[in-house]
Amino acid sequence: MEIIDGNKIAAAIIAELKATVATFPGRRPCIALIRVGDDPASVSYVKKKQANAAEIGIESRLILPPVTITPAELFALVDQLNADAGVDGILVQSPLPKGIDEVAVFRRIAAHKDVDGFHTMNLGKLAQEDETGFVACTPAGIMELLRRSGVTLAGKHVVVLGRSLIVGKPAALLAVQRKAWANATVTLCHSQTANLPALTRQADILIAAIGKAEFVTADMVKPGAVVIDVGVNRVPDATKKSGYRLTGDVHFPTVSPLCAKITPVPGGVGPMTVAMLMQNTVKAYRQNLGIA
Ligand code: GUN
Repeated sequence: MEIIDGNKIAAAIIAELKATVATFPGRRPCIALIRVGDDPASVSYVKKKQANAAEIGIESRLILPPVTITPAELFALVDQLNADAGVDGILVQSPLPKGIDEVAVFRRIAAHKDVDGFHTMNLGKLAQEDETGFVACTPAGIMELLRRSGVTLAGKHVVVLGRSLIVGKPAALLAVQRKAWANATVTLCHSQTANLPALTRQADILIAAIGKAEFVTADMVKPGAVVIDVGVNRVPDATKKSGYRLTGDVHFPTVSPLCAKITPVPGGVGPMTVAMLMQNTVKAYRQNLGIA
């Protein structure tokens, strides 16, 4: 069993991006990060995004509207950033407060600045395998993690657990692409799937993104499978200073001995998501400035 080191692979990508950005004449790439409210996970993620941007030489602008912001005001903020020629990428951190239609906000972002890849246009381009679009960062990070860990997908059975817009659906669309690095057979499972363990047990590569702590147990995994754990769950733990511990969607102690390879939580997919966001920001900058 091999533990895939997401921190190490992400650090290599960050270093590559830093070297690339250093060659750009003129202004730096710039990402605007909008975070509404103080969800502790969002605070932590956005901090990581800013730290990675700073390391690479990407400018980041943090915008913290009050939780009382109305949908109309949030739209107006997005419109303003869409019109700002100095901003290459715009990210609205999910989740948004109840009462704001998140997908409507994602759609409001100009498609060419949608570095999260959640806009209708970019999801459409993903389905059409049009590489000018932006691919959602977590699924893109998973594919890159597999590629750089020497895991091939062609002809393999990839089982994706979870049908979210942010992870499950785009991950399935990526794995089935007609590309040498993809060409997998994909099963997309979710909370309403019948006989779930029978399906997950068929996976050569299991991508767990269901958002339930330690949901995937040993009986659900085929020996020798590659397991990608996308979950980031906080469970109460009195022995920790913070009062909680982070755990994935996979019960690591019992599943990991079965696997050929597995990603840990933290330190697996998480850092790759941020690295892909940075890559998308550099892509947006190039497209924006017409640099090849
Ligand atoms: N919340 C959890 N993951 C993500 C992500 O990839 N992008 C945004 N905007 N919010 C998130």
